Order: sequence, then structure tokens, then C-alpha cells
Amino acid sequence: MIRSLRGMNDILEEEYRRFDYFHKVACDVAGRYGFHYVETPLLEETALFRRSVGESSDIVGKEMYQFIDKGGNDVCLRPEGTAGVVRAFIQHKYDKKGGVYRFFYHGPMFRYERPQKGRLREFHQFGVESFGIASVYEDASLILMVGDIFDTLGIGYTLQLNSLGCHECMPPYKEHLISFIEAHSEQICADCQRRKMTNPIRVLDCKNGECQAIYADAPKLMDHLCSSCSLDFKTLTARLDEHAFSYTIDTHLVRGLDYYSKTAFEFISSDIGAQNAIAGGGRYDRLIEFLDGKPTPAVGFAIGVERLLELIQLPQPEREGYYFGAMDAQSLPLILTLGQRKRRTDKAIIEYSAKSLKAHLKNADRVHARHCAVIGENERKQNGIWIKDLVTKEEMVIPIDSL
Ligand code: HAM
Repeated sequence: MIRSLRGMNDILEEEYRRFDYFHKVACDVAGRYGFHYVETPLLEETALFRRSVGESSDIVGKEMYQFIDKGGNDVCLRPEGTAGVVRAFIQHKYDKKGGVYRFFYHGPMFRYERPQKGRLREFHQFGVESFGIASVYEDASLILMVGDIFDTLGIGYTLQLNSLGCHECMPPYKEHLISFIEAHSEQICADCQRRKMTNPIRVLDCKNGECQAIYADAPKLMDHLCSSCSLDFKTLTARLDEHAFSYTIDTHLVRGLDYYSKTAFEFISSDIGAQNAIAGGGRYDRLIEFLDGKPTPAVGFAIGVERLLELIQLPQPEREGYYFGAMDAQSLPLILTLGQRKRRTDKAIIEYSAKSLKAHLKNADRVHARHCAVIGENERKQNGIWIKDLVTKEEMVIPIDSL
């Protein structure tokens, strides 16, 4: 038997209902915050991710679904959504026009990670990207927006917050950090030795317990922020405080993608096991010019949909539409005609084999129909159809023409 690839799942029935409900809620909230839907291809040039997500990231270093296509192009299944939206933003010259643009998207992302609970190779993100606003009020607004989505879905969370500084304060901080790492280079793991060379701040994110104990005493970027980054961070936390939106400041939160500056955040759930990040985002003011666009401030986030599924409390499905059934073979053509006619205005499920009334009522209940409509020999003789409203429990035979 051929099975789906490891870490790539089918989305069926109940799970799909959760997906669908999540998307309805998230798209509705995005609309209320002024975001417009955008769709970019699943396949992009590999160079896009190398230059944006960054050579030193695990995503580019180890996790890309990368191949040479039949035309000899080096391409890659998107591991995340930001890079493609930024590429589109520049390609369609929004950067040259200036102004504010807010986009949202959802769809599959691909990372060749080691599959485990909450960590897939094909997973789905809902993300937003906001272009043209340098004010940290937009960062606060996006954090409140994630909160709105999770609150509507009944999902609990904690917010972790950090500032990654800017091109002014990050380089001198890196020097301090490198000196610290070098002073402990005997004790740190091989990965951190490598990170020291490629992107030193990633050492702070190391999962090795011994490394973590050492980095507890490492210099903190928060203590080395320039006045502008420091003011932005204070403004951000003040806005969140005003909204009674609780957060913890995690000075080791560096995010796994290289494009961030200033605000970085993650939403964590304590109810889903080890892979507990349910959303992540931040500001990336330098990325647009880095990809040859006109410098444009930007900030965004993405939510990992699969990690939410078990947390989503689905509302009771409402009964809707009609279920049509026949009690004898002669009534089947009539049932099809009436069902088709009903489909012009309502949802109609048609059963194509003759069954007892009891069996039809059971089916109608299973498909959450509001009305069960059945024809047998008696109804045919009267030119009528038996109908039961499965909410009010009212039942009657009505003339076919009045259906
Ligand atoms: P990210 O933190 O890499 O950020 O991913 C966002 C979310 O996607 C994570 O918090 C997690 O819920 C989910 N996720 C990531 N990897 C997997 C996986 N292998 N299996 C299941 N879920 C996963 C980004 O992707 C950025 N583009 C977010 C962003 C948008 N920043 C600014 N704008």
C-alpha cells in the first residue's frame, strides 16, 4: 500500500472542520484589522529563501525541499510565507508606490524536519504581513490581533517578547556576545561553535541544557539597545499593559529566521507538548531593501494551524438544508429531481438507494440536515412528500409542488 510521506498528513472530516473553523475566524479577524488576502506560489527560487530566511538558519541549512527543475532552475517549496509575500510586494512595485499595505495568507509550508507531535514536514500557516508602518503601534496591534484570534477560538496562550535591536545596536552587542562565547568555548556544544561563526545570537536559542546554563550569564541585548530600539520596546510594552495583555520578556528569544530586527515575539501553549510555539513573528525593517526593494518598514506573524487543532473548541454544527430519501426504487428518479431543484437555493444531500424511513432519519441526522424529506409509494400516490423538521420535530406530508 502506498502511504502519504512521513510528516505529511491528510486532512479529513472532523479535522477539516477544525481547519475550516480556524480559517473563518482568522480571516474574519484579519478583515477587521484591514488586511487583504494574497496568494503566492508554493514554489520559489531557492535564492529567495537563502537571502531572506538566511544561510545561517536551520531552515535554509537543513530543512529545505530544494531541487533543480526540468529547466535547470534551483527551486524550493516554501518553508514559510514571509519571503514570498515580500518578493511579490517588490515585484509588483508596491515599495515604489509607497503607503501602507496589509496582506494576509494561509496555506501549506514545507520543512524537512524530523517529524514528531506538532512538527510536520508539510504544515499550514495563517500569516499576515504589514508594510509601510514604522510605528511600533503596528507591532502592538498585530500582537492584539493574534490574541483576538486565539480568544475567539478559546485557546489559552502566553506571549514571549524580545527586542532584537537594529543595525546600530546589534553589531556592537554581537561583539560582546562573541567575547563571552569565546571565553566559554571549551564548554559549549559543537552546534554553538558553528553558530558563533555564522550567527552568534542563535547560540542563545540552543536547546542543550549545559549551553543554556552558560548563556544564563551572557550579556543581554536588552541592556545594549540603542535609544530608538529601547524607546520602541518601552512603547510596545506600555501599549500591551494598557490592554491588560500579559507577556513575559524572554531575552533569549531570537527566532529561527534571520530577517528580524526590533520586535520579536512568540505565542506559546502549555497544552500541546514539546512543540509549543503556536505563533511567531516580529519586525523586519531591512528585508525589503535586502531583496532589492525600496527600504520599507514591515512587521508580521504566522500561526501554525496544526498545532492549534486539538485546542480548538468547535461550536455545535448547526443543522442546515435538506436530506432526500426514497422508500422504494420507483421514487428514486423523483427524489433526484426534487433534490436537484432544491440545490438551486439550499444544501441538499440525496440518498440514491431505497431505504426505510428509520434509516433515512438516521442518515439525515448524521449529515446534520435540518429537514428530512422522504417519498414512498403512499406519498407518490398523493403527489406529496413527507417532511420532518429535525429541530422542531414537526412532520407532515406536503404537495410536491409546494416544496
Ligand atoms: P515560524 O516561527 O518559523 O515563523 O513559524 C510560525 C509558526 O508555524 C510556528 O510558531 C509554529 O506554530 C508553526 N510551525 C513552524 N514549523 C512547523 C512544523 N514543522 N510543523 C508544524 N508547525 C510548524 C515564520 O514562519 C515567519 N514567517 C513568521 C512571520 C511572518 N514573521 C513575520 N511575518
